[in-house]
Amino acid sequence: MLLAFMPAKARATDAAQHYTQHCATCHGADRLGGMGPALLPENLARLRKAEALQVVREGRPATQMLPFGQTMTAAEITALVEWIYSPVVPAPRWTEADIRASRIQHVDPATLADRPVFDADPLNLFLVVEAGDHHVSVLDGDRLEPIHRFPSRHALHGGPKFAQGGRYVFFGSRDGWVTKYDLWNLKVVAEVRAGINTRNVAVSPDGKHVAVANYLPHTLVLLDGDLNLLKSIAATDRDGVKSSRVSAVYEATPRQSFIAALKDVPEVWEISYTRAVDDIPIGFIHDFKQGEGEFIPGYLNPRRTQLDDVLDDFFFTQDYSELMGASREGRGQVVNLDVRKKVADLPLAGMPHLGSGITWDWQGRRVMASTNLKAAEVTVIDLATWEVLRRIPTRGPGFFLRSHEASRYAFVDSMMSPENKHVLQVIDKESLEVVREIAGEPGRTLAHVEFTRDGRYALASLWEDDGAVVVYDARTLEEVKRLPMRKPVGKYNVWNKVMREEGTSH
Ligand code: HEC
Repeated sequence: MLLAFMPAKARATDAAQHYTQHCATCHGADRLGGMGPALLPENLARLRKAEALQVVREGRPATQMLPFGQTMTAAEITALVEWIYSPVVPAPRWTEADIRASRIQHVDPATLADRPVFDADPLNLFLVVEAGDHHVSVLDGDRLEPIHRFPSRHALHGGPKFAQGGRYVFFGSRDGWVTKYDLWNLKVVAEVRAGINTRNVAVSPDGKHVAVANYLPHTLVLLDGDLNLLKSIAATDRDGVKSSRVSAVYEATPRQSFIAALKDVPEVWEISYTRAVDDIPIGFIHDFKQGEGEFIPGYLNPRRTQLDDVLDDFFFTQDYSELMGASREGRGQVVNLDVRKKVADLPLAGMPHLGSGITWDWQGRRVMASTNLKAAEVTVIDLATWEVLRRIPTRGPGFFLRSHEASRYAFVDSMMSPENKHVLQVIDKESLEVVREIAGEPGRTLAHVEFTRDGRYALASLWEDDGAVVVYDARTLEEVKRLPMRKPVGKYNVWNKVMREEGTSH
């Protein structure tokens, strides 16, 4: 029968049957994933439908994903792909019991050596996330050579987070898996599935508390350092009426807390991971002043800052007393986390990517600079007055901006520009001007720079399936080396992350 003449309902029924017959063994009976990734609209958001069609038709080479072009007709495949991009109703649940039951202990921590099993400087290692075939490479930042490579969960998200002076690192995957990795022993220690669709993870410096921001379900999950569940907090507004996705969670060391951004409710949350903290008043302020209101413990409960706009993308001042956030419309504002309200508007246009922000001292002032996802500029802001000091024109809208305290240069990409995504530009942090362009091959993205511990070399990603990490001398800006990698979407230097180096995001 011709698909176009079939009622939509019959098509969906067919698709569901095809799914059960051909896909469920690997992608899970309920589409929540298994050996293959979850097939839900939230999880597929980054894959264009045309690509999904091709994957189902032709399979994905060198993976377990098989081709179905011979098994099903083109119309059946189209209907099936439509179906996996439509929501599961009712929405799938992932309860505290599911989280607990998912935990895997890969090695007994008692068997792990308490010093590095290699002779490289453990603080100058890089982790390179290779999205092409879901692996992580460990690079020795002195010799600029890989020392290890291991398989990761499907589609790691948001950058790994380091703890205990860089010995442990925590990864979050799009499908909700949190992995604890021992970088001294080069071993996965434990894993847990904290959600169905996850944005990112944050970890306290002592490695004892881990927070997970979920889109699905609408929860913020708190784990201990061994990935045991502490609690799952339902993300709703203060009245418990409107529920929200959690777009990101950050760790604020000076405050001993996690800061969470909600996607659908105009609130920012602060969750203390220390017990030495005041209780949180709930209910009305006049009750609180009279000491009559109700209180909940401050430890591991959200302290809410209510805002007018939903804020998405954050940058924190060095002491974490203030955050800069951007709303979906690109409007910027400054929120003070102590008085818990907006203290200034930011004169920003386009879609500033505050999460890429870096800071440095410029003519006696502390400045912050970030890229813009919609405008071809790097914006430099005075952190004392919140004024825009300079708009530095770039070749196109960019995603990452990176520098190092020891370098006079900052590197910016033009990743969001189809014509110029192969160009890196080098900004002089003193003159605030572009002083050099590093052009790769047109059409092949060159982006995401990270410096070595001492700031001597800058490593960039040739962001392609047959890509590479390209090493530049950070003074001469000449290429010194190229290490082949499978779509290296991010690289993270242990020292720069652990020390919260001013030239990189955290
Ligand atoms: C034998 C196991 C297996 C079967 C059967 C299978 N898949 Fe997959 N599928 C995988 C694996 C593994 C991946 C991840 C491949 C990779 O590493 O990128 C995948 C990836 C995918 C992706 C890309 C997801 C993404 O986020 O990149 C889609 C879409 C997909 N499968 C759909 C299907 C559909 C529809 C069916 C049934 C017709 C199916 N798969 C059957 C194992 C399987």
